[in-house]
Amino acid sequence: MICSRCKKCVRTRMTRLDLWSLNIQGDVSRLDCIDGNHFIAVTLNDKIIDINDTYCDRLEDGWREVQTDRDKVLFYTLSQIVYPEFDTPRPERLETLYALVDEPDVVMLRWQGGKAIGFYTVKPTGTEIFSTKERYMMPVVDTAYIRSEYRNQGFGTGILSDVITRFPNEDIGFSKPISSGMLKILKAFLTSRKEYRLRFWEIADCDIDGSQQLIWCSLKRAAL
Ligand SMILES: CC(C)(COP(=O)(O)OP(=O)(O)OC[C@H]1O[C@@H](n2cnc3c(N)ncnc32)[C@H](O)[C@@H]1OP(=O)(O)O)[C@@H](O)C(=O)NCCC(=O)NCCS
Repeated sequence: MICSRCKKCVRTRMTRLDLWSLNIQGDVSRLDCIDGNHFIAVTLNDKIIDINDTYCDRLEDGWREVQTDRDKVLFYTLSQIVYPEFDTPRPERLETLYALVDEPDVVMLRWQGGKAIGFYTVKPTGTEIFSTKERYMMPVVDTAYIRSEYRNQGFGTGILSDVITRFPNEDIGFSKPISSGMLKILKAFLTSRKEYRLRFWEIADCDIDGSQQLIWCSLKRAAL
C-alpha cells in the first residue's frame, strides 16, 4: 500500500487484536508500516479506522458514551496505541499505562470537530475487584486521557464536569495513582466548587476500604 507518512509504496503488517472485553462484533487488526516502522491505523472488518480522521456523524462537540464498534475501536486506539506510543506516560508525573477496560466499565469519548481527542472510563458502583472480591461503593473514574495536542484547553476539566452530571447524587472515586496533571485540575475544581470537597475520593483497587481518602484533605495536607 501507499503509506501517507512515508509517501511511497510500503510493506505492511496486520496483527489481529483480541478485544473481547469491548464486545466488538467483527475482526479488528492493527496495521503497521514495516518500512517506516510506525503505526498506521486499526482496521475493523478490513475498513481502516483512522484516529486522525474527522467523522461526520460525530460533529457535535462533547463527551459521549461509546456506542458503535467504530467508537470502541477509536477508544482502543487512543488508550492502547496513541497514549502509550505517542504521548508516552511520564512516571515522574505519576502517569501510568492503562489496561483495557473490563466489560461493565463505562467508556466515554471526547469529540471535538468530529475527531476523538480523549477518553475517560468509570467503574460503576458495585463493580467487583477480581483479586480481593471487594466492591466499589461509588462510581470510580479509572482512566482519563486527552491527546497532548489538545491539552491546556479545558478538556481535562471537562471530565469532572461531565462525571458529576452523569452521577449527580453520588460520591465520585478516582483510581490511584492520580497523576500530577489530574491533581492540579482537581485542586482548581475543588477550590471553586466547595460542595464537592466531601464527595471526591481517591481509591486504590487493591484495598478499597483501607485506601479511601478525601482528595480535598490530601490536597490540604500536601500544601502544609
Ligand atoms: C491530566 C489531563 C487529562 C489533563 O487534560 P487537559 O485537557 O490538559 O486539562 P485542562 O486543559 O482542563 O487543564 C490543564 C491546564 O490547562 C489550564 N487551562 C484550562 N483551560 C484552559 C484554556 N482555555 N486555556 C489555557 N489553559 C487552560 C488549566 O487551568 C490547567 O492548568 P494547570 O495545569 O496550571 O492547573 C492530561 O494532561 C492527560 O491526559 N495526561 C496524561 C494522562 C493522565 O495523567 N491522566 C490522568 C490520570 S489520573
